[in-house]
Amino acid sequence: MSSFGQHPSAEHVVVHISDTHLLAGNAKLYGSIDSDAPLRLLMERLVASGITIDALVFTGDLADRGEEDAYRRLRSLVEPWATKLNTQIVWVMGNHDEREAFSSVLTGNEPSSAPQDAVSVVNGLRIIALDTSVPGYHHGELTLAQLEWLARELETPAEKGTLLALHHPPIPTPIELMGLIELEDQAALAAVVRGSDVRGILAGHLHYSTYSTFAGVPISVAAAACYNIDLIAPATTILSAKTTGLAASLVHVYPEQVVFSEVPLDDVSEIMSYDASYRSVVEAMSAEERKAMFSKKDSEFNSHADQVQSGS
Ligand SMILES: [Fe+2]
Ligand SMILES: [Fe+2]
Repeated sequence: MSSFGQHPSAEHVVVHISDTHLLAGNAKLYGSIDSDAPLRLLMERLVASGITIDALVFTGDLADRGEEDAYRRLRSLVEPWATKLNTQIVWVMGNHDEREAFSSVLTGNEPSSAPQDAVSVVNGLRIIALDTSVPGYHHGELTLAQLEWLARELETPAEKGTLLALHHPPIPTPIELMGLIELEDQAALAAVVRGSDVRGILAGHLHYSTYSTFAGVPISVAAAACYNIDLIAPATTILSAKTTGLAASLVHVYPEQVVFSEVPLDDVSEIMSYDASYRSVVEAMSAEERKAMFSKKDSEFNSHADQVQSGS
């Protein structure tokens, strides 16, 4: 696709989804949350968008209780859409996941209790899935063997750089209770990431969308696809979860920059749109004509848009 601005189009687009928390037998989380519906809507909308997607990355807590049936449903829910999108899926372990069920159902390998670390390369972009889960616990850890494996992998830069995908984000959180189940020894991971070709880090676990940097690398935490934490809940609570803020994240990878954008998963009506046929009209215009029409405040185009927007 062409670009009307000074930047070229993104070289890669990754869709980042986190914390689906599916239960076996279509059971509803907290007795009321349908975890499948937002996911299905996202997949439908991604196909309808016509966007070329390089990978769907799921950063953990895929199954709330680590049940095989939940992984089977997740796989059958996502794979047909991934085929339609002609894209690959990267599954990442979270603290709610169980390695044996995850490995046997999602990767199709023999059930394994080993860390589910994996490397994918898509059109020159390397995506490393790092398993921060600890069997039997909710906090995150990376073993020395995992850190050494990661360091060895990163010794050879990828053609278009690397995205690191892990469940427990190595950043602070204002939700004190989440600090109890954070990734331990984040400095050890920073020592491996710093100076490498890692260009972006994708994480989940927090159940709210947030952004930071880690070892000089931008990091994006996707909101959960089932329920999220209210960051400004009343002082009478120390953690309040609600069924709002469900979102995925788009990761646009440009030659020099990585840009993260939240995509809400709720199904609401459109307030306005421009028809796709309008693109060719813009393409036919000179730079001066474009500025005169789209930037100049009193242009015919903007005057009309102002009128519509102000409800007159
Ligand atoms: Fe979660
Ligand atoms: Fe988690």
